[in-house]
Amino acid sequence: MTKKQTILVTGGAGYIGSHTCIELIQAGYQVIVVDNLSNSSQESLKRVATIVGCEPVVFYSVDIRDQQGLEQVFSEHAIDSVIHFAGLKAVGESVQQPVAYYDNNVSGTVTLLKVMQKYAVKQLVFSSSATVYGDPQTVPIQEHFPRSATNPYGRSKLIIEDILMDLQQSAPEWQIALLRYFNPVGAHSSGQIGEDPRGVPNNLMPYIARVAVGTYPQLSVFGNDYPTPDGTGVRDYIHVVDLAKGHVAALHAFHNPQVPHLLAVNLGTGQGYSVLEMIKAFEQASECKIAYQIVERRAGDVAACFADPQLAKELLAWQAEKSLVEMCADVWRWQQQNPKGYR
Ligand code: NAD
Ligand code: UFG
Repeated sequence: MTKKQTILVTGGAGYIGSHTCIELIQAGYQVIVVDNLSNSSQESLKRVATIVGCEPVVFYSVDIRDQQGLEQVFSEHAIDSVIHFAGLKAVGESVQQPVAYYDNNVSGTVTLLKVMQKYAVKQLVFSSSATVYGDPQTVPIQEHFPRSATNPYGRSKLIIEDILMDLQQSAPEWQIALLRYFNPVGAHSSGQIGEDPRGVPNNLMPYIARVAVGTYPQLSVFGNDYPTPDGTGVRDYIHVVDLAKGHVAALHAFHNPQVPHLLAVNLGTGQGYSVLEMIKAFEQASECKIAYQIVERRAGDVAACFADPQLAKELLAWQAEKSLVEMCADVWRWQQQNPKGYR
C-alpha cells in the first residue's frame, strides 16, 4: 500500500482553509494544520472532523513567522506539499497597518520557505488573489494580464508571487502553483462551517447574510454609477467548496509531467454578477427582504472583475460547478444555524 501524502495547510482553521481540509481528507490526504488563530477558531477544525467522520485534525497553534515552531512541525511529520493560506486579508486594515501586513504575509512566507528549503519540501500551493490584476483594462481577465497593486494587501500578494517566481527560477525542481482566487463565497452544504468574519464584514456576501438575520438594518451598496449593466460593481463569485477542490486539483497537477513547474492560474467561474443581482439571488434563497441604500463608491473598488477560467481547466482539469443559487443557499444555511459564527 502506498503511503498517504501529507499536506501541511497553513491557515487551515480559516474560511477557505477549513473547506480545503475537508476536500483533502476526503481525497485521501493526511492533513496537518498550522494556524495562529488570529482570524479563526479551532472549532472550525473540530467541525471538519465531524463532517468527514475522521480523527481530530492534527493542529499546531503556531505563527508562520516563528521559524523554530515551524521547524518542529516539519521535524515531526514527513510533509510532501504545503498549501499556504495563512495571511491577513483586509484591504482597508492593510492601508492603516502596512507594516503588519508585510510582516505577516511577506515575512511569514519567507520564513515558511526557509523551513521548506531546510526540510527539502518543494511543492507549494499559494493563495494569491485577483487583486494582483489591479484595475483590469478589460474583462474577462487572463493570467498574462499586467499585474499591479492598489493597496498594501494586494502588494503583499504581488511581492509573494515575485518571491515564488524567483525561487522557482533558481531551483526548477520546485513545483509552485499561484492560485488567483476571485470572490470566494458560500459555505459547506452541511451548514457547519462557513465564513465567520470578526466585527463588521468588509465583504458583500457576509454583510448581506447579516442584514438577512437582522444584525444590520441595511446594506450600503457602494456606487451605482459604474460602467456596468446596472451601475453596481460586478464580481466573479465562486463557491468556496469549488475553490477548495481547485487546491486538490493543483496537488494532482504536480504529478502530471505535462504541467509546468510554475503555474499562475485563475480560480473563478468566468461569470460576473452585480451587487444588485447578488441581493436578488440572496433574497430568493433566503426568502428575506434585503434592505439597501446606494451610497458613494468605496475607494479602491474596480467596476468589473471576472476571470477567464480556461487555463485552470486545461492545466488543473478543474472548473467551478456550483451555481449562484447554491452559493446563496449555503451561506443562508450556515448563517441561520450559526448566527454568532463559531462563538
Ligand atoms: P481567513 O482569515 O479565514 O484565513 C486565514 C487564516 O490564516 C486564519 O485562520 C488566520 O488565523 C491564519 N493566519 C493569519 N496569519 C497567520 C500567521 N502569521 N501564522 C499562522 N496563521 C495565520 O481568510 P481566508 O478567506 O480563508 O483566506 C485564506 C487566504 O486566501 C489568505 O491568504 C487570503 O489573502 C487569500 N484570499 C482570500 C480571498 C477572500 O476573499 N476570502 C480572496 C483572495 C485571496
Ligand atoms: N460591496 C457593497 N457593499 C458592501 C460590500 C461590498 O456594495 O458592504 C460591493 C463592492 O463595492 C464590490 C462588491 O460588492 O462591488 C464585492 O465587494 P467585496 O468586498 O465582497 O469584494 P472585493 O471584490 O472588493 O474584494 C475581494 C476581497 C479582496 C480580493 C478581491 C479579489 O475582499 O481581498 O476580492 O479576489 F482581493
